[in-house]
Amino acid sequence: AQVFQAEFIKSSVRTEDCPSDGLPEFALVGRSNVGKSSLLNSIVRRNKLALTSKKPGKTQCINHFKVNDSWYLVDLPGFGYASAPRELRTDWNKFTKNYFLNRSTLVSVFLLIDASIPAKKIDLEYASWLGQNQVPMTLIFTKCDKRKKKNGGKRPEENVNAFQELIRDFFETAPPWIMTSGVTNQGRDEMLLHIAQLRNY
Ligand code: GTP
Ligand code: MG
Repeated sequence: AQVFQAEFIKSSVRTEDCPSDGLPEFALVGRSNVGKSSLLNSIVRRNKLALTSKKPGKTQCINHFKVNDSWYLVDLPGFGYASAPRELRTDWNKFTKNYFLNRSTLVSVFLLIDASIPAKKIDLEYASWLGQNQVPMTLIFTKCDKRKKKNGGKRPEENVNAFQELIRDFFETAPPWIMTSGVTNQGRDEMLLHIAQLRNY
């Protein structure tokens, strides 16, 4: 699986405004700052296709990126960004949840979880919501290059195992999972292979 072309198509706020050409798509979702935009750039090997920032809340719409003229990667706003105005926060929730439930070309939601820290309550809430609503999901662990042991912090592998244990009851079968890094490009090929497999179902 290779990426030979990637282009930004459009930003939408409502599911109805998303592209209507029927191509399959994969959506990146996760807490603000978890590395959604960075991972998208890593997958398509373009440093600045999706805008990233140290400040949470950079991505605020449903952004469609077309890859190889045949499928979409979708960059979504992060959730759990505490400093966003309350109206904005609930609005994000409403439009991303509407998108998950009504976007017929959505093949899988890629739920990004920061592997460099223990899971947050909101990560579990999101996984639980996706499981309850039977939205097809893949767990993507990010920042696996960070292995600082500051303040008794755990290694990425330990956080990854702990998270899978915590969400076990939300799913009938455990969701597939991939460990990644937008810095070292770890997991890049595995993600492309996973996407290719899902497209060929
Ligand atoms: P929002 O659009 O605000 O929801 O954030 P996002 O999830 O798109 O995160 P973004 O890609 O903008 O990255 C947030 C910060 O984390 C940036 O400072 C990135 O450089 C950093 N970052 C992202 N991915 C990685 C990674 O794999 N490893 C490390 N060490 N840092 C990363
Ligand atoms: Mg972003």
